[in-house]
Amino acid sequence: MCGIVAYIGQKEAYPIIVKGLKRLEYRGYDSSGIALQGNNSINIYKKQGKVVNLEEFTENLDRSGTVGIGHTRWATHGEPNDVNAHPHYSEDKDLAIIHNGIIENYDSLKHQLLSKGYTFRSETDTEVLCYLIDDIRKNTGAKLGESVRMALQQVVGAYAIVIMSKDEPNKLIAARKSSPLVVGIGKEGDFYLASDATPIIEYTKQVVYLADEEIAVIKRGSELKLYGIDDVEKTPYIQELELHLEAIEKGGYEHFMLKEIHEQPRSIEDCFRGRLNASEGRVSLGGIKEYEEKIINANRVIMIACGTSWHACLVGEYLFEDLARINVEVEYASEFRYRNPIIGENDIVIAISQSGETADTLAALELAKSKGATILGICNVVGSSISRITDAGSYTHAGPEIGVASTKAFTAQVTVLTLMALSLAKQKNAINESKYRAMLSGLEVIPQKVQQVLEKNSEMEFIASQYQSASNALYLGRGSSFPVALEGALKLKEISYIHAEGYPAAEMKHGPIALIDEEMPVFVIATKGTSYEKVVSNIQEVKARKGKIIAIVTEGDTQVKEIADHTVEIPETDEHLVPLLATIPFQLLSYHIAVMRECNVDQPRNLAKSVTVE
Ligand code: AGP
Ligand code: GLU
Repeated sequence: MCGIVAYIGQKEAYPIIVKGLKRLEYRGYDSSGIALQGNNSINIYKKQGKVVNLEEFTENLDRSGTVGIGHTRWATHGEPNDVNAHPHYSEDKDLAIIHNGIIENYDSLKHQLLSKGYTFRSETDTEVLCYLIDDIRKNTGAKLGESVRMALQQVVGAYAIVIMSKDEPNKLIAARKSSPLVVGIGKEGDFYLASDATPIIEYTKQVVYLADEEIAVIKRGSELKLYGIDDVEKTPYIQELELHLEAIEKGGYEHFMLKEIHEQPRSIEDCFRGRLNASEGRVSLGGIKEYEEKIINANRVIMIACGTSWHACLVGEYLFEDLARINVEVEYASEFRYRNPIIGENDIVIAISQSGETADTLAALELAKSKGATILGICNVVGSSISRITDAGSYTHAGPEIGVASTKAFTAQVTVLTLMALSLAKQKNAINESKYRAMLSGLEVIPQKVQQVLEKNSEMEFIASQYQSASNALYLGRGSSFPVALEGALKLKEISYIHAEGYPAAEMKHGPIALIDEEMPVFVIATKGTSYEKVVSNIQEVKARKGKIIAIVTEGDTQVKEIADHTVEIPETDEHLVPLLATIPFQLLSYHIAVMRECNVDQPRNLAKSVTVE
């Protein structure tokens, strides 16, 4: 996601926009830029990095103008650099646009425009939209608002855009679909636009939240007009802002971590947007696709990572092996790099990293590269070091993850690995068509099922209240739920400081069972599947020693309910997709226990969001 700010009125736009962009930097900070309406021209200034770089860059430039648009970027298409920074001009600089979202069909639109002789400056999908609007405007003679409407009818994807024209200097056009956009109605006939209300609230509390496929035509000193993409005029619904500044940055949530937990239906959907088409039975993971044969024929496939990302690798191991019949070895990057590993040119090393900057993971990749291996990456931050050195990769598109404890990045990583495993399985004919189709359909509805699990928040809060004072905890799971047990334990220990361990459920008998007593909460993933009965036996073993059982079960389960102290039901889903659902209750549980223990949820002691030191 990114941050959008725009202003049209009588005041100088620059200070309003730059201050607003700083308030939105939590939404992305790869680059920032501003476009200001001049005398029959639009001035665009933009710089890689944080907004302060833009301020320094423009210090002695003409920053005048009472109409402007600004953007702080979270890159999805095109490296974070000055050229790919927003705003983007149309080819002849008559228009300037800012955009939050992904234009899925930008490539085909770009080829259409290239065939008309257009030449592009950047690698972004956003610039294509600007050129498309301008092309329509020039060929139909339509005004900017109508040109935007016609262009958006050709667009597939997510957008929140604001666009301006040097030919209509007293107007801004805004539109949204899936990405947020708020219009603030000023007191002097002026208007403020932004991705959320944080840049607006100090000027006005009168706001209109654009709905999907709504287009706002905003004229200086006049009223705001709203239209549907079908050109039907709508009455703006003006709301009174009640939130406080800080709260809005967190989307009304108390902490970034809770916000990011609740963003997962959206982030998982963004992760498979344009990559999964269940009805057509298609998976297309751009960067990785051309390496599928290499992966299938590799001597070794090794996944390397740290922390939560290492847990995602473990889920990937189960998925690759069971679905695609491809053997995967999972290694801690820090161990791999110092072990003098036997790696050669027929090996594939896949690094998973939210930040793309983790020192051990980066160093392990560089070692693998030096030994001739093919290196691939699954990162969240576009243009990060790991994404730059790999031969290819896939971005998770989870958006900025501010909370130190990784949540939405983990489920996005698992989503990419699931798509990879299914695509490889199909390529190898290792999966029958009906199972393949069923898995694609199952994955497509995961966002809705995640939402259903999120609605168990109060149940998790109650369970948290029962165990907030525990000194130790055990997490158990089998199969691909074993990494979920590890992840659940990591979440608890890293934000609540309670000692917790994850174990394969069967392994408990080989030692940890000695820890069980009435003080020990044992969190078990006991969903329907091949090892369900075995897990039930493990639960009985814990109960026999007076341990407390909190079980994640499949909706409708009665057997575990009879023996567990607490059960949390999650929707039925294919066994391979359970990690995407079962991890949610543990995220919520850890969050609530940490809050009850008055820990610093977003910045736990001793931790950093990206460990760039060894
Ligand atoms: C997980 O909650 C932690 N923040 C930590 O384990 C993290 O997953 C690890 O440092 C790896 O970070 P990366 O994904 O950015 O490489
Ligand atoms: N897809 C656009 C880009 O990569 C916008 C990304 C964003 O939402 O910041 O520039």
